[in-house]
Amino acid sequence: MTTPRLTISPNGPEFSRIALGMWRLAGWNLSPQTRLSFIEQALELGITTVDHADIYGSEAPFGEALALAPSLREKMEIVTKCGIVPLRTPQTVTSAPHYNTSRKHIVAQAEESLRLMGIETIDVLLIHRPDPLMDADEIAEAFAELKQSGKVMHFGVSNFTPSQFELLASRTPLVTNQVELSPMFTDPLHDGTLDQCQRLSIAPMIWSALAGGRLFSKDSEQALLLRATLEGLAAEYGVSPTTIAYAWVLQHPSRPVVITGSRRIEAAREAVAAVSIKLKREHWFAVWTASKGHNVP
Ligand SMILES: NC(=O)c1ccc[n+]([C@@H]2O[C@H](COP(=O)([O-])OP(=O)(O)OC[C@H]3O[C@@H](n4cnc5c(N)ncnc54)[C@H](OP(=O)(O)O)[C@@H]3O)[C@@H](O)[C@H]2O)c1
Repeated sequence: MTTPRLTISPNGPEFSRIALGMWRLAGWNLSPQTRLSFIEQALELGITTVDHADIYGSEAPFGEALALAPSLREKMEIVTKCGIVPLRTPQTVTSAPHYNTSRKHIVAQAEESLRLMGIETIDVLLIHRPDPLMDADEIAEAFAELKQSGKVMHFGVSNFTPSQFELLASRTPLVTNQVELSPMFTDPLHDGTLDQCQRLSIAPMIWSALAGGRLFSKDSEQALLLRATLEGLAAEYGVSPTTIAYAWVLQHPSRPVVITGSRRIEAAREAVAAVSIKLKREHWFAVWTASKGHNVP
């Protein structure tokens, strides 16, 4: 079993179709050696793309594991994000968590990410969330500075609407938009986000493809109907319901890169298995119908 790869944008890097999500890593309380072995097992499956953010608290424990086998760095594409600033002091009416996409903040956070991971270059740096105060020219200047110094190779965004993407892309090349998509959350199918990715030949990165686990744990009418549908299709294709859920997301023509979030390597394996499944149209729409609660008009 291995993971196919794709070039995510015309001048962009090559990613594995399945990426390893590090959001929850710090909470797994693994020893550095066990963390390393998790990463090694993912690499053995061909999962070479790793997704971090400065606010996940994942960069330092990842760096600690990587320090045990530094040569693994060359086998990976490392993505991280910046722009969200949690409040370190208690919130008051005059101070709040905020976004910061100033040149100074972007450059400083990228440098801090490099330090924490113990690496020399970030493959792709994303602006984590659209900042209502973002100045596209200033972000472009920060990106140019980081590129020129060799600290970051490529840039992208996350959770951007098509018009926000268009604005920033008018000033600086972007290689991806990392967005939420799952059988439970389908907005990007209909709000222009994935249309834009197709138009620009940019592969989206997909977060919470299993709705953060709620697809298998929530007791809403939608989740129950989706589970029954996924189980029926799983029996038909001879794979797990999880694999069907991943296959449903992967099948979008924008060529998504799906980020897994599980601490279990078995779940990563179920995601890799999904890359070779092509759902029949009536099956893809059975999941869509279960999600929406009605047939196509
Ligand atoms: N750009 C953004 O704004 C943004 C936001 C959120 C996440 N992300 C990225 O996307 C990654 C994935 O997000 P996510 O963690 O929410 O993804 P997810 O794959 O939808 O959810 C993973 C969670 O679901 C649980 N789960 C329950 N049943 C499962 C099953 N059958 N198979 C697999 N997992 C199951 C996992 O628990 P177990 O560990 O016990 O399996 C884990 O806690 C993150 O790590 C992060 O890198 C980006």
